[in-house]
Amino acid sequence: MTAARPTALPVVQFHSRAGCVDLGWGHPHPAALPVDAWAEATHSALRRYGAAALTYGYAAGPGPLIEWLCERLAEVDAGPPEPAQVFVTGGASHALDLVAALLCRPGDVVLVDSPTYHLALRIVADHRVEMVPAPADEDGLDPTATAELIRAIIRRGRRVAMLYLVPTFNNPTGRSLPNERRSALLAVAARSGVPVVEDDTYRELAYPAPAPASLFSGAEPGTVVRIGSFAKSVAPGLRLGWLTAAPSLVAAVTARGYVDSGGGVNHTAALALAEFAASGAYRRHVEAIRVRYRRQRDALVAAVRAELPQAEFVVPDGGWFLWLRLPHPYGGTELLPHAEAAGVSYVPGRQFFVADAGHSYLRLSYSMCDPETLVEGVRRLAGAYRAAGLSERSTPLPG
Ligand SMILES: Cc1ncc(COP(=O)(O)O)c(C=O)c1O
Repeated sequence: MTAARPTALPVVQFHSRAGCVDLGWGHPHPAALPVDAWAEATHSALRRYGAAALTYGYAAGPGPLIEWLCERLAEVDAGPPEPAQVFVTGGASHALDLVAALLCRPGDVVLVDSPTYHLALRIVADHRVEMVPAPADEDGLDPTATAELIRAIIRRGRRVAMLYLVPTFNNPTGRSLPNERRSALLAVAARSGVPVVEDDTYRELAYPAPAPASLFSGAEPGTVVRIGSFAKSVAPGLRLGWLTAAPSLVAAVTARGYVDSGGGVNHTAALALAEFAASGAYRRHVEAIRVRYRRQRDALVAAVRAELPQAEFVVPDGGWFLWLRLPHPYGGTELLPHAEAAGVSYVPGRQFFVADAGHSYLRLSYSMCDPETLVEGVRRLAGAYRAAGLSERSTPLPG
């Protein structure tokens, strides 16, 4: 291998800070990225498809990837989409941006689960809509109260463009919406006409598998758009994901000017992924990372139980996150500077809410660190908790 060209410009999004155990980032463990198998898949795609691998791709994504994805979703979900219901995207973020571009008009209301993936809030906000939290409790989004809220918003003369949630292994809570609520939410979507955007990014990271059936698989046609990603199951740098939706929505995405001009999104990487899948590497890889992330989850859970028994949490059945609630109403917000000073970091719960809420919570990610590092991170966090004196103070701070 030749040496990398020296550059003063960054190569990657995240660099670990010296001396800091960073439990903030939802990034894969470096050893879980399939470098050699991906090199093989890329060669294989180039050998098999030749120039067709390097030219503009078919608008909805290359056929071999779409067909395999439908087969895979038949295995890991309650039912597969039809190929005409699939569009390959540049990751789930891109899928959400595309869907929002199609469904939202400036000034619309978009309902979002609370808490929900904080960076999805950024993507939705780009579309100049008003985000309103959908009513939720410990079990997740409350469909009955959400239906009432939709009616109230419409009575005020506003349009509700869509409802966004991560019903399976939610980021940040790790929890999945119970089945009765899934059915009730599908009924609300069908009755109200408000499209549900289901972020299914963590489906493959189920410990133990299988994940619950998606909303999409049980929905009336045209009521749910589901977005997915290969960022967690293979590698985020690929920028590959997908959406499944009514063929009319797929056709509308396909007709967008930049697809018309540029062809299918990330065509060469998409063909390499099709090879990665066809060779069996995808299946082996997902089985291996399930074992890894489950071990990392268990290490973090055990460490929090031992070192920080004041924290309440539910052990997640999948995903990458542990969602802790501290007894102090501002615990998650106030602890952060103490934690950083002690050499550990996390994302404060407030960031996952549209409203000014969630200050008692914090999100720890177990994806990026070995079990020993997770244990050390929690040891530091517990030290910071004692240093902050949060257990002694029960009165909330102002604001
Ligand atoms: C719920 C959720 N959706 C989407 C994403 C982003 O996915 P992608 O990298 O495919 O854009 C993430 C990444 O953290 C996520 O947690």
